[in-house]
Parts: sequence; C-alpha cells; structure tokens
Amino acid sequence: MQIIKTVTLDYRQYLTEKEISEIEHEVTIMETRESAGIEALKIVQSHRGWISDDSLNAIAQLLAISSAQLEGVATFYNLIYRQPVGRFVIHICDSISCHLNGYQKVLHAIKTHLGIDYGQTTEDGLFTLLSNVCLGGCDKAPVMMIGQQHYEYLTSEKAVAILNGLSQSTDGNSSGDFLDKAEVGATIDAKIVEVKND
Ligand code: FES
Repeated sequence: MQIIKTVTLDYRQYLTEKEISEIEHEVTIMETRESAGIEALKIVQSHRGWISDDSLNAIAQLLAISSAQLEGVATFYNLIYRQPVGRFVIHICDSISCHLNGYQKVLHAIKTHLGIDYGQTTEDGLFTLLSNVCLGGCDKAPVMMIGQQHYEYLTSEKAVAILNGLSQSTDGNSSGDFLDKAEVGATIDAKIVEVKND
C-alpha cells in the first residue's frame, strides 16, 4: 500500500493555469467533481510525465475530494504512473494469446536491446518497461502499447525497429515536452514498413 506524503499546499500555486483550466473543463462535462478524478490525473500526467504525491494532493484539493480517494483511482488505473518513468513507457501484454504467439521472444529482444528489466528505466531516461494485462488485440498478438499507439503482430525485429525509431525521433533529447503521440506513431509505422520491405 502506497503511503501518500501529505503536505499543505495550495493547488493554485502548484498546478499550472493550463492544467487547472483543462481539469475544470473536464469537471463541466462530468456529473460531479469527483467523477473527473481519472481525467484530472491524466491531464497532469500528460504535462509532467507522472503523478507525484504533491500532484496527487493538489488535484485532490482542486476536486474537493480526499487524497486517499484519488489515490484509489490512481492505483486502479494502470496507466497512471506514481513514480517517474521514461519518456516512452512500453506496456507489453503478458496475457494468454500473446504468450502463445511469441511474447517471450519479443520480451527477451526488448530487454536485451534496452538493457532493462520490468519496472526499470533506461539510463538515458527514454524507455520504461512494464507488463500489462490483455490490451484487447488478442487476434493480433503479440501486442505492446507505447503512449496511445498499439503495436501488433510483433516480432523481435519489429519491436527493436520500433524502439530504434522512437529513439531517433527524439534526436537524443529525453526531456522536455512530451511528443505528439500520433506524430510518433506515424513516424514509427513508416519505419516498420521500411523494415518489412528490406
Ligand atoms: S492477450 Fe495480448 S492483447 Fe489480448
């Protein structure tokens, strides 16, 4: 169970105007402020990369709910990161269809290529590797998800090509604004086509 560091802070001084504005917009389309919890977490994470205790406390204050209540939401939703992660978080499906269709080989290739294990981040801060339950693409297994993008019918070579493409898309810059996921997806898809055609 995660211990939340509770500090007294004013969310107006901690969250940016843009974050507050985006969260308040979500609140207007929900029935209650509490219902906007998951979207508020996603908004702050999209700007900061992960949800620190201070971020969680500030969001809870803004939504007028308890930090413990919001922590419950964050814990339930596995795409909310409560620890710092790399710029690209790899969620590789380890459920049955993927297991039966080459998951182990793909996982081994990714671990070897990046030099990390599950739960770890590469030294350059680019990649974090996490397991995930079924990603909903069982007929296209094995599958992994990075950002909004699903990558299907993976092979070891294809997975490494995707990671290389993502590395190159950053031009060696692992910090700063998060990439536009659609743009990255299109870039990487193009690189995969190149690999297939070789
Ligand atoms: S089992 Fe992997 S996507 Fe469903």
